[in-house]
Amino acid sequence: SVVRLADYQAPDWRILHTRLVFELDPERSLVNARLELERLGADDAPLRLHGEELDLLSLRLDGRVLRASEYRYLDGVLEIASAPARCVLETTVAISPQANTRLEGLYVSGPMLLTQCEAEGFRRITFFIDQPDVQSSFDVELRADKARYPVLLSNGNPTGSGELEDGRHWARWHDPHPKPAYLFAVVAGDIDCVMAPFTTMDGRKVEVRVWAERRDVPRCQYALEATLRAMRWDEERFGRAYDLDQFNIVATQHFTMGAMENKGLNIFNARYVLADARSATDADYEAIESVIGHEYFHNWSGNRVTLRDWFQLSLKEGLTVFRDQEFTADLRSRGVKRIADVRLLRARQFVEDSGPLAHPVRPPEYAEINNFYTATVYEKGAEVIRMLHTLVGEATFRRALDRYFSTHDGQSATVEDLLAAIAVESGRDLSQFKRWYEQAGTPQVEVEDEFDAASGRYRLRIRQHTAPTPGQPDKEPLHLPLRIALYDAEGRDLSARLKGDAERGEGLLELRGAEHTVELDGLDAKPLPAFLHGLSAPVRLRYAYSAAELGRLVGVEQDPLLRWDAMQRLAHAAIVERSAAHRDALIEASGQLLKDAAADPAFIAECLLLPDVATLADACSAIDFDALIKEREDLLDLLAETHSDASAARYAALARVEPDALSPAAAAARRLKNVLLPWLTRLDPEARAATTQFREAGTMTDRLGALACLLHFDAPAAPEALAAFRSEWAEDLLVTDKWIGLKVTRPQPETLDEVRALLGDRELWQPTNPNRVRAVLGAFGRSNPVAMHRKDGAGYELYAEQVVALDAINPQVSARLATALEQWRRLDSVRRPLAEASLKRIREGARSRDLNDVVTRLLEG
Ligand code: ARG
Ligand code: ZN
Repeated sequence: SVVRLADYQAPDWRILHTRLVFELDPERSLVNARLELERLGADDAPLRLHGEELDLLSLRLDGRVLRASEYRYLDGVLEIASAPARCVLETTVAISPQANTRLEGLYVSGPMLLTQCEAEGFRRITFFIDQPDVQSSFDVELRADKARYPVLLSNGNPTGSGELEDGRHWARWHDPHPKPAYLFAVVAGDIDCVMAPFTTMDGRKVEVRVWAERRDVPRCQYALEATLRAMRWDEERFGRAYDLDQFNIVATQHFTMGAMENKGLNIFNARYVLADARSATDADYEAIESVIGHEYFHNWSGNRVTLRDWFQLSLKEGLTVFRDQEFTADLRSRGVKRIADVRLLRARQFVEDSGPLAHPVRPPEYAEINNFYTATVYEKGAEVIRMLHTLVGEATFRRALDRYFSTHDGQSATVEDLLAAIAVESGRDLSQFKRWYEQAGTPQVEVEDEFDAASGRYRLRIRQHTAPTPGQPDKEPLHLPLRIALYDAEGRDLSARLKGDAERGEGLLELRGAEHTVELDGLDAKPLPAFLHGLSAPVRLRYAYSAAELGRLVGVEQDPLLRWDAMQRLAHAAIVERSAAHRDALIEASGQLLKDAAADPAFIAECLLLPDVATLADACSAIDFDALIKEREDLLDLLAETHSDASAARYAALARVEPDALSPAAAAARRLKNVLLPWLTRLDPEARAATTQFREAGTMTDRLGALACLLHFDAPAAPEALAAFRSEWAEDLLVTDKWIGLKVTRPQPETLDEVRALLGDRELWQPTNPNRVRAVLGAFGRSNPVAMHRKDGAGYELYAEQVVALDAINPQVSARLATALEQWRRLDSVRRPLAEASLKRIREGARSRDLNDVVTRLLEG
């Protein structure tokens, strides 16, 4: 059954207050719920509550036990035909956390009992109106064995605790902020924390704690500090302060997604919390800070102002991703952050948007909402917010968000509410802009120019077009900000002199129509145009740059994103179109960058990294993996050979920059060093640089970078290094995941046997741990095109078999894995039928709604 945005109806009932009592036990927990209800809808509207896999033990309405004829519990709904307009419903249910491998609702992870409720997990804990437009205040009492579960946490502020008989104890929590059920959380366990005080800008004293399994607590310090940075930043940049006496974060080894913003009690995948100098890479540190920020920022964009319904998901996720991107940009390198975000956008969101799973940022319907936590809702959603920011400017955007937060504080809002706040503050009409939320597909912007030497007139013709996507054959033009620069021979930007209907001044064009023309007079030569600075709109832009022009752009442009983009364009043309001119220009520009001692090494590293195979494939109407991979490898060989001296010299110089420090400068040096290391390794069958780096590395970044090289180039030292690393980290789940990730991405067809061996390893294969599943299968499916897309179809076969097996354990995980085949329709004529057969096998084996929905759309979209 499908849920449609067009069918939305306001709820018939609201829940004024919720009191929950948990008797926690891993085998069988009892949940007693007392709901104070009030009817909002018609007199005859029945009372309907959601409930999944609940063992109903008792049901009372206003104190009276209901007879079997007075209610029914069917297909996830408890219906009570006649309930008074104000009433109190009391239920007691039993649930089994231990048996819960879906990791939705209440489940077990090591020494903890914990919950994950978004999107619809609360109904696996107790009967409730489990939808975001029903908000309630909560009082929670937790009871559990004190020795086994000494710490008892929930949302809000603690209001008391005490002893019970039989070695049990209790704790009470009160959350003063009404919230929808998806933000509910409980954690009980033998866990410990690090703690710091924080005083908000309005003077509230907050105790901030980061919790983990006892042995992991020494690795929580960085996350704690990142939390304090996030709290301060949201005050300074957005004027948003925290609103409870405690802020708790708990790290768990078993988590389906990255993290969850439960009110006052964020729960995190351990990989986005735990870090220390020995075990964490530079990328880990950055990701931890970013995800900590993301969940914290939800306290306003998501919790204080929540969603009316799940179609509005991007209202909180797109806005919060934008906020976390800005957090990282403000604290670290803005240019490098933007490049990383655009790389991800192109590799994942553009690919999603051009395949069978394409959907608008606000999907009009869904069969399973968990399948819409996508790159489109998150990343494109953030780009849409970024465009609004560009269109109205920072100051107006800030005022608009203030208005949005204050107008809708405590409410369940819609995309229209946010757009209205921005429209009012900016005085702009955003009705056309709203199409960004409704129309799927990546717009293509086509630019043609002409220069008339006789009159000195330069004219740009700009057209936009969006290709059909499943269910949307016809597209309307979008309203989008297009940044532009026009460089003369001296590198001066002439764009201020542009004229035309799309012209907004200061290098900004605003497209609204399918076609625009802008022009410039009085030139003696054709200028060099540059478009989409900072990627001002999430579009693909086509302009017939010559190789020489792109090479010049790398040198003349100031915007790091566009300099990087020029390099990507060169690489793309060199690989996909096999253009020798672009290849030569790329080699030339790479040489310049390698020598550039003034530029940020992390920026140079981004520029030297070629687009990944999925991104390259996305531009092809028929994907020939063998050719793409071969051309890409040949180009890397050529880069490495041509610049062997320069890269060796640069590598050596970088290796002398405080090699083990955690400073930004040291991390930037490591980034470039580890991009150059594969270049050096390509030329040296002995892999001496990688062997030495592995041996001497003082950081996980350097150690993993070296190990990847040794392994992926089949170096003589590889087996020994792998074994040494393995035995050093055998006890560590997260580091072992990284080790597995390297093994399964070795670019050889035989890696499939490695994956099979891992799946047969009783210690390493842990199918109930989503991180482990992603390490083995996620990395294989998305990041090893050589083995996954083997021409004999063995990669697809193994993958399909595992996706089906995992569906019985964790449907969100199986559905997510299946999306790795989203490009199947464009595969070559040998691979396509093989991939299709595997998808059909998945369809036959799929049991969950999650996997059924994804595989159906993959096959039919
Ligand atoms: N709201 C969480 C976040 O992005 C993600 C929750 C994902 N839940 C899910 N069922 N897919 O911060
Ligand atoms: Zn989020």
